[in-house]
Amino acid sequence: MSNSPQDWPEPIVRVQSLSEGGLNIIPDRYIKPPTERPSPKRSVSSASSVDCADANIPIIDLQGLNGNQNTRAATLSQISEACHEWGFFQIVNHGVNSHLLDRAREVWHQFFHLPMEVKQQYANSPKTYEGYGSRLGIQKGAILDWSDYYYLHYLPLRLKDYNKWPAQPPPCREVVDEYGRELVKLCGRLLKVLSINLGLQEDFLQNSFGGQDIGADLRVNFYPKCPQPELTLGLSSHSDPGGMTLLLPDDQVTGLQVRKGSSWITVKPAPHAFIVNIGDQIQVLSNAIYKSVEHRVIVNSNKERVSLAFFYNPKSDIPIEPAKELVTANRPALYRAMTYDEYRLDIRLRGPRGKCTVESLKSPG
Ligand code: OGA
Ligand code: NI
Repeated sequence: MSNSPQDWPEPIVRVQSLSEGGLNIIPDRYIKPPTERPSPKRSVSSASSVDCADANIPIIDLQGLNGNQNTRAATLSQISEACHEWGFFQIVNHGVNSHLLDRAREVWHQFFHLPMEVKQQYANSPKTYEGYGSRLGIQKGAILDWSDYYYLHYLPLRLKDYNKWPAQPPPCREVVDEYGRELVKLCGRLLKVLSINLGLQEDFLQNSFGGQDIGADLRVNFYPKCPQPELTLGLSSHSDPGGMTLLLPDDQVTGLQVRKGSSWITVKPAPHAFIVNIGDQIQVLSNAIYKSVEHRVIVNSNKERVSLAFFYNPKSDIPIEPAKELVTANRPALYRAMTYDEYRLDIRLRGPRGKCTVESLKSPG
């Protein structure tokens, strides 16, 4: 991309360094406006807060897809309902070995606990975002999120560069490779399910993404302990810009919240589950039958958190627009065509902004 910025507008501060420096108060740069702060915990005696506290995104057993006709139909319909109602669901019995999931979490946990000099060798720039980072967006003076991350390209192959993946801990590259291979397969299966549920040919979404020529990136999020978690967020509210995301959450610490109407629901992860969510590109392709849903991350004063977000995206230079089959006289095309390259420039320049990017694509009239 020719007009990508070369460098950050301000010196980068590692949130982990702030956290480990033993501050009692967080710098102003991380303090969110009052309306964006995590909602205070309400008293458990109020009925509505009990509802919210117990709510969770649906948990779906993918084994059902291999069952008899009835079981398969029931599983497809659970996924359909989750896509309509939540834009988010968890999957268990997804076929990815649970030992691999544990190893992936473990190597990244170890990476973030390497000495700072080692991690700094991978410091990223806004040009490609690959490497060790501490902010999204390049707006000078922006309010920042309480997290560091590591971002790498898994696909397409021409962008895959082991030199930009950590050499430490030693199994890291091998584990990421195997993890990526398994998740690409799983995403392919899920796109078929979504296509069938939309009434399209099972290959429709995969083909719209570019067939085998898709993009896949991993962002590992590290949320350090925070002395004032009520004033900030680990990740501001956003919808994922890409196609579909498979999130491997921390197995000990919750933090992800999903918007449901006017509430924020804290996801309670099932053991060895992935959290699946619809990204903006599927919202566009499905002509908003499926919506990418806003989510955010809250942090804790006494626990750090690690999550692995795997983004499965359309090939970056093909136009993405509503499926012709889903455009009717009663439901005209809601979005104009745009490549994913063009689309993500907005986020890369301005950082996460709720659903502003996908809204701005709306066709006039
Ligand atoms: C993301 C994301 C959630 C989490 O990386 O896009 O939403 O729990 N992460 O870290
Ligand atoms: Ni996200």
